[in-house]
Amino acid sequence: MAPRKFFVGGNWKCNGTGDDVKKIVTLLNEAEVPSEDVVEVVVSPPFVFLQQVKGLLRPDFSVAAQNCWVRKGGAFTGEISAEMLVNLQVPWVILGHSERRALLGESNDFVADKVAYALSQGINVIACIGETLEQREAGTTMEVVAAQTKAIAEKISNWTNVVLAYEPVWAIGTGKVATPAQAQEVHDGLRKWLQTNVTPAVAESTRIIYGGSVNGANCKELAAKPDVDGFLVGGASLKVIFLFPLLSSP
Ligand code: G3P
Repeated sequence: MAPRKFFVGGNWKCNGTGDDVKKIVTLLNEAEVPSEDVVEVVVSPPFVFLQQVKGLLRPDFSVAAQNCWVRKGGAFTGEISAEMLVNLQVPWVILGHSERRALLGESNDFVADKVAYALSQGINVIACIGETLEQREAGTTMEVVAAQTKAIAEKISNWTNVVLAYEPVWAIGTGKVATPAQAQEVHDGLRKWLQTNVTPAVAESTRIIYGGSVNGANCKELAAKPDVDGFLVGGASLKVIFLFPLLSSP
């Protein structure tokens, strides 16, 4: 089995202006990073900047939308359809981010339906899962992330174009990054879950990336863990620090 290509995603969330786009993309375009054979870099600006970023970004980096609708477009005011992303030639989409699960009530099944539909339209998916602090403190972390993963596994038959992003909610935007041991424990548990409940080949080939307060200071130790295949970076992706994880690919 070919080694899993290291993956670094930059989730800008609901941030940025047209000027910021120029500044950030200039930094990204000037960065010296491992070749795209070694590291896959995907930048995820808000929808309104997707075309601008696509037009300015270096060809070895790619872009992702931060969400898309659960079915074919139509009378769904405010939504962006997978077909629109295909039309814009946006190859990736982030789905199931904990902020959407918490703020908009996106359930495991709803997220799974979104993943299945996006994949059916030929879009690659960064599928986000992760437990809350209460769930971790109650010792139910693996139960929670397994249920989130199971919902997706029940709706899709092909994991080739899925990257699983473990993002402990208590680490997102808090500066309280998971320790390398904590991240490895959950990533290992997820890989074992895939091995048992999907196939050993899917378990081996699926990239499981970590998100939650990743920055230049903590990324190397996290990246050194055998089941950490990359990062989904939030706050730091709006600064040059975003590039540091690229340098920590094994
Ligand atoms: O999707 C990535 C994001 O949730 C992590 O945010 O700011 O903790 O890196 P941050």
